Amino acid sequence: MSSNPLAASFAPIPQMDLAAQYAAAGDEIRLAVERVLASQRFILGTEGAALEQEVASLCGVAHGVGTGSGTDALILALRSCGVSAGDEVILPPFTFVATASAVSALNATPVFADIQPNTYNIDPAQIERRLTPRTRAIVVVHLYGLPADMDRIMDIARRRNIPVVEDSAQAIGASYKGRPTGSLGDVACFSFYPTKNLGACGDAGMIVTNSASRAARLRILRNHGQTEKYVSSEPGWNGRLDEIQAAILRVKLRYLTKWQAARQAHAAEYTKQFSQIPGIMPPLIPEDYEHVFHQYTIRVEERDKLQHVLAEKKIGSSVYYPVPLHLQPIYASMGHRLGDFPHAEHAAAEVLSLPMYPELRPAQVARVAETITEFVRH
Ligand SMILES: Cc1ncc(COP(=O)(O)O)c(C=O)c1O
Repeated sequence: MSSNPLAASFAPIPQMDLAAQYAAAGDEIRLAVERVLASQRFILGTEGAALEQEVASLCGVAHGVGTGSGTDALILALRSCGVSAGDEVILPPFTFVATASAVSALNATPVFADIQPNTYNIDPAQIERRLTPRTRAIVVVHLYGLPADMDRIMDIARRRNIPVVEDSAQAIGASYKGRPTGSLGDVACFSFYPTKNLGACGDAGMIVTNSASRAARLRILRNHGQTEKYVSSEPGWNGRLDEIQAAILRVKLRYLTKWQAARQAHAAEYTKQFSQIPGIMPPLIPEDYEHVFHQYTIRVEERDKLQHVLAEKKIGSSVYYPVPLHLQPIYASMGHRLGDFPHAEHAAAEVLSLPMYPELRPAQVARVAETITEFVRH
């Protein structure tokens, strides 16, 4: 870092910076990797089992089942809900494609329900409109780190005996009315993709649940359906979490609370700067929800122009997600059109995620906020 304030004021600010995190935790991570290498136990060992317990306990649930990725977690969780060919699964159209492609992987049909325009999460009223006799599960996404409106969703699901899967890939550590994400539905999935709030040094994921029987089945499914060595009772595949990733994640898990508080402090500062500026919609945090700011995402009408101006000033930003799922080529055969899910479509056109990582410095937050404020004022 330069000590020259003028140089600092022009230094690039990335949208996320994994190198800064590695600088803080690198020594411990290298030791953890060494520990696994010394053990020569790489698959389904003590590190994975310990991580499963630690993540389950963070979520306030009984069981964790490590997986190879968040996508594996979703496919396996849906399998554990009985989803199979021809079933329908309700989910939001404004999310990463994996939420829906996990459904497609089982030859089931994703049925989209529009989002709420202010939280970007699935709208319970829209879920109700999409239910059919073939609805086999509902997947909610806690997008950007903000929990979905779970009481209303669970109420709808319970009345019809439909299981609810939480796609909590972006929301580890968040809470809703005092209850952690991961404990709010019937089964929940986490991704430990490197850029997530808890990120591995490769692919990894986890499923958590309070049901002992579901956890036992998931352990079988993630390992080729084997009930004992070389005896398979049902089709599965290799969806296992490896020991090196588990050991790394255990190190990072110890930092999660501190990193989360840093993200929340940066978010509060951004929001303070933007609150009086018409034309910028900062993220909403409904009362009694805890947002963990995997992304700090604003909404502005001239989003693409703003992104261009930020890039010129070497400030990173990203659009999560520019094309809603109903308009993705993969789902073209469903025949959806522009206008089918207007809130998702408007969000896709207007959202912009700003630099957000624990190690951001206050001066960087201030520079980003000033640049945006100036753009909107002119
Ligand atoms: C909302 C959401 N669902 C699912 C996934 C899939 O997770 P993974 O990349 O670990 O397979 C991700 C992240 O990539 C995600 O953001």
